[in-house]
Amino acid sequence: MASQRARDLIEQAEDDASFTPPTFDGEYPIVIEDLTNAFGTQVVHEHLSLKVKRGEILGVVGGSGTGKSVLMRSIIGLQTPTAGKIEVLGRDQTDSANRDDEGIRSRWGVLFQGGALFSTLTVAENVEVPLKQFYPEISQELRHEISGYKVVLSGLPAEAASKYPSELSGGMKKRAGLARALALDPELLFLDEPTAGLDPVGAAAFDRLTRELADTLRLTVFLITHDLDTLHAICDRVAVLADKKVIAVGTIPELLATDHPWIQEYFNGPRGRAAEASYAKSEDNPANKSSARPATGPAQQPDDGIGGGTGDGTGNGHGTGAMDKTGPERA
Ligand SMILES: Nc1ncnc2c1ncn2[C@@H]1O[C@H](COP(=O)(O)OP(=O)(O)O)[C@@H](O)[C@H]1O
Ligand SMILES: [Mg+2]
Repeated sequence: MASQRARDLIEQAEDDASFTPPTFDGEYPIVIEDLTNAFGTQVVHEHLSLKVKRGEILGVVGGSGTGKSVLMRSIIGLQTPTAGKIEVLGRDQTDSANRDDEGIRSRWGVLFQGGALFSTLTVAENVEVPLKQFYPEISQELRHEISGYKVVLSGLPAEAASKYPSELSGGMKKRAGLARALALDPELLFLDEPTAGLDPVGAAAFDRLTRELADTLRLTVFLITHDLDTLHAICDRVAVLADKKVIAVGTIPELLATDHPWIQEYFNGPRGRAAEASYAKSEDNPANKSSARPATGPAQQPDDGIGGGTGDGTGNGHGTGAMDKTGPERA
């Protein structure tokens, strides 16, 4: 049972049209123009521009250390850019008055690289952290009800709510982090390497969940990933970070039509081809929905011989393990 206070709030919400949370209805909820980020003399971004379309899942790729996480932190106001402009949900984030605006910060959810759950709090308590922060007036009961709902929405069993992070598998931790990111019913969802460290089956399941949630909750998703399977399976477009800027953004076929060496190496190298072949056979591919032909020929080798960390000769600085997925698991 919700408390009287909570009932009042709900009633007020129903009565009062002004209580309706604002929703961004422009075309580009994230607009980045001519961004520069530097740490001392190290310039991470220079003249970087990018527009994220409302309702899309934008994959963000780039070699290790190219500044993907710094870019995300700049967008959500955790990193003050050296120069340039960032507009989020129609508001200029580079204006310091807007950056501290709680109202806008409640309209996005973030799953940081590594998950970053509070280890001394249960899953439910973790999900309740942003609720407490942004809506302190909500009763504990209602907060608990909301967190329970988010836990289940994120594909966890209801019992997981009372567990501590150390009691969860890697995949469950990511889902708990996702539940926390969804706590405030955000319009924007930021995911930084969400499938890194998951096994291929867990990663594919997380991908499907992301796509499903994005569609049902009408989210715009900024998804940093190394995972070629993820890019093929769920991203509407992909932005490529290299040479301190976004060198290209588009669908995978559009990117393949460019002749930038990093893009060619990334998508057309052995791993890129394996991911593409895997997607061609997978259930996620709409082309396979009606004519499910059995795969013919020998299965791909699970180990393509280049999964050995950084010494794989591709010279792109990858090798996090997240890319070490090849076709058979998804076929
Ligand atoms: N707070 C910081 N202070 C100094 N250097 C930083 C900081 N955050 C990131 N960097 C540097 O910026 C570069 C980009 O980092 P990051 O965005 O984490 O890369 P990635 O693309 O792997 O996510 C790296 O060289 C990193 O060392
Ligand atoms: Mg990073």
